[in-house]
Amino acid sequence: MKEIVKTVHITQKDESELTDAERKLIDAAKSSTYRSYAPYSKFCVGAAIQLEDGEVLTGNNQENCAFPSGLCAERTALFYTNAQYPDTPVAAIAIAARDSNGEFTSVPISPCGSCRQALLETEHRFARPIRVMLYGTEGIYFIDSVRDLLPVGFDSDCLV
Ligand code: THU
Repeated sequence: MKEIVKTVHITQKDESELTDAERKLIDAAKSSTYRSYAPYSKFCVGAAIQLEDGEVLTGNNQENCAFPSGLCAERTALFYTNAQYPDTPVAAIAIAARDSNGEFTSVPISPCGSCRQALLETEHRFARPIRVMLYGTEGIYFIDSVRDLLPVGFDSDCLV
């Protein structure tokens, strides 16, 4: 018998420790929460994607009265980005959320399973790790790659 252990390495920073580029992406994710459409959950999520060339694109959750027809912030941002720039690798994604009181969450939220899978597709597509930044008022988490969030994930290599 063999045991395989996969660990995820998370770096936590305070706002004062952010680089200018990190702050810019996180601020874009935070701003995007104010444009989310979340009348049902009242949980407003924003995502900001940075391309390899530095361009930043944002998205937010878009809910629907037929609940499953809505879409998370991460996939809204990712699909828009891939639709506009199909040949440019994604370098990083920042995610922030405000609760039903309008306050940013103290603990970061992290992408749901479907968003992780969609992000993994893009990471695999460009063969480039996507850095993940998860904003919380009490600390910001940094994870080097989406693969770390989906350690035994399914990608196109599995289709052979
Ligand atoms: N949501 C996101 O947009 N991203 C996440 O990472 C988690 C959840 C949205 C979906 C729904 O509109 C609301 O947050 C409550 O689940």
